[in-house]
Amino acid sequence: MHVPASYSVIKHMWYFYNVRLCNVSFFYIKEHYGCVFYPITSINTYPLTKTHQDCTLQPYSEMASSQPLEQDHRSLQELAKVLKQDVPHRYVQERREPTYVSNGISHLPTIPVIDMNDVINIGSDINQLQNLRSICQEWGIFQLVNHGVDKMLVEKMKKETVEFFNMPVEEKLRYKFEGGEYEGYGQTILHAQDQKVDWADRFYMITNPVYRRKSNLLPMFPPLLRDTMEKYLQELQKLSMTLFSLIGEAVDIERQEMIEAFEDGMQSVRMTYYPPCPQPELVIGLTPHSDAAGITILLQITDVNGLEVKKDGVWIPVNFIPDAFVVNVGDILEIMSNGVYNSIEHRATVNEEKERISLAMFFNPKFEAEVGPAKTLLSKTGNPPVFKTLIMEQYLKDFFSRKLNGKTFLENMKIGNEKPRKPDHITHPQ
Ligand code: OGA
Ligand code: NI
Repeated sequence: MHVPASYSVIKHMWYFYNVRLCNVSFFYIKEHYGCVFYPITSINTYPLTKTHQDCTLQPYSEMASSQPLEQDHRSLQELAKVLKQDVPHRYVQERREPTYVSNGISHLPTIPVIDMNDVINIGSDINQLQNLRSICQEWGIFQLVNHGVDKMLVEKMKKETVEFFNMPVEEKLRYKFEGGEYEGYGQTILHAQDQKVDWADRFYMITNPVYRRKSNLLPMFPPLLRDTMEKYLQELQKLSMTLFSLIGEAVDIERQEMIEAFEDGMQSVRMTYYPPCPQPELVIGLTPHSDAAGITILLQITDVNGLEVKKDGVWIPVNFIPDAFVVNVGDILEIMSNGVYNSIEHRATVNEEKERISLAMFFNPKFEAEVGPAKTLLSKTGNPPVFKTLIMEQYLKDFFSRKLNGKTFLENMKIGNEKPRKPDHITHPQ
C-alpha cells in the first residue's frame, strides 16, 4: 500500500477527530490514511475551536504542497487558455468508460421528456402519474418543457453566469475556497494525494436556509448576478415543490410528508465551467456520480452538450432541448421511495473546441428533517424499509466526507450494507 509522505500528520488528524467527535472507528481511520476529513469542520453545527481549524488546515496545506501543482492550478480556465496539447497528468483518467455510439442498427436511447402542462393541468390524472412514476423508476431523469419559469429570467441567469466566469481570474479568486472548505470557487476537492482532478472550475454554495449562506459568497456577488440569482432561486424553489408533490404522489408518498421534508429545505447551487480540452477523451469534466439531493434542476448555459447518463450499464449523451430543464432524481428520493425511484448515475464530458457551462440547483430536505424511506409509503405498502434513516445534517456530513464514485454512497445507506469505507468510495457537494 502506498503511504503518502504526510501520513503521520494525517494520521494524527484522524486520531484527533476520533477522540473529539467519536464518530469513526479505528479501523475506518486506518483505511483512510490518505483522506482529509473536511465535512466535520465545514458544515458542522458544533462551534469550531481554534484547535479544530488549525488541525484541518495544517495537514491539508501540507498535502497540497507536497504535490507538484500545475502552474495555474487556481483556475483551469486560465491554464486551458495556454495549453496547446498534452493535458497535465493530474487530469488524465486511466479508466474512462466509453460513451455509447449507435451502430446504425439500434437507436441511441434518449432521456424522456415531460411537459409540465400535461402534468399540472391534469393534476392527479392516473395515467400522467403513472408515466411520471415509470420515468422516475426506469430513468430517474427527464427533460422538463413548459416548466413555467419566465424565459427572460432564464436568459438573464444564463448571461450572468457566463459573465461570472468571464470575470478576471483575480475577481473569481476572491471567492476561492481554501483547504477544509467546499463552498466557493475552485476545482475538485482533493481527498487523497494522488486523486485525479476533473476538467472543470466550479462554484458551489448553499443558498438556503439563508442563515447558512456564507457572507463572502452570494452577498458579495456583482449586483446583477446576485439579483438575478435570487430571483432564479425563488422561481426554481416553487417549481421544485410542485415537482416534489407530483413525484411523491406518483409513488404513494403523501403530499404532506413531501412538503414537511422539502419546504424551505436545504438548497444549493453549482455553476460549472468546463474549458475546451486538447485531449477531451483523456479527461472527465465531472466524475461519474449520483446526486445526494432530493432532485436536481440543471440548466445548460451554453449550447454545448456534455452531460451523459448511465442507462442499462452504458453511457449515453443527453441532447438538451432548448429552453428545457433537465431534472434528475437524487439519492434522497431513491431513499424516500424505498428504492422504487432511480437516482441516476451521470457524468460530464468535455469538448475539444468549445467551453461548456452549466448551472445545477439541488433541492434537499431541511437540515433537521429525517432522511429515510417515507413513512406514508411504508404504511401503505407494508414493505420493510430498504434504507436507513438519518437526520439530514448527519446524512450530509457522511456524504461530504467522500469523493465522487458512482452510487457507492447510496449503497452504504442500504440496511445491512454498512461497510467500512474504502479510500475511493466518495462523493461531492450538493
Ligand atoms: C452536477 C452535475 C452536470 C453538468 O453538478 O452535479 O451533474 O452537466 N452537473 O454540468
Ligand atoms: Ni450531478
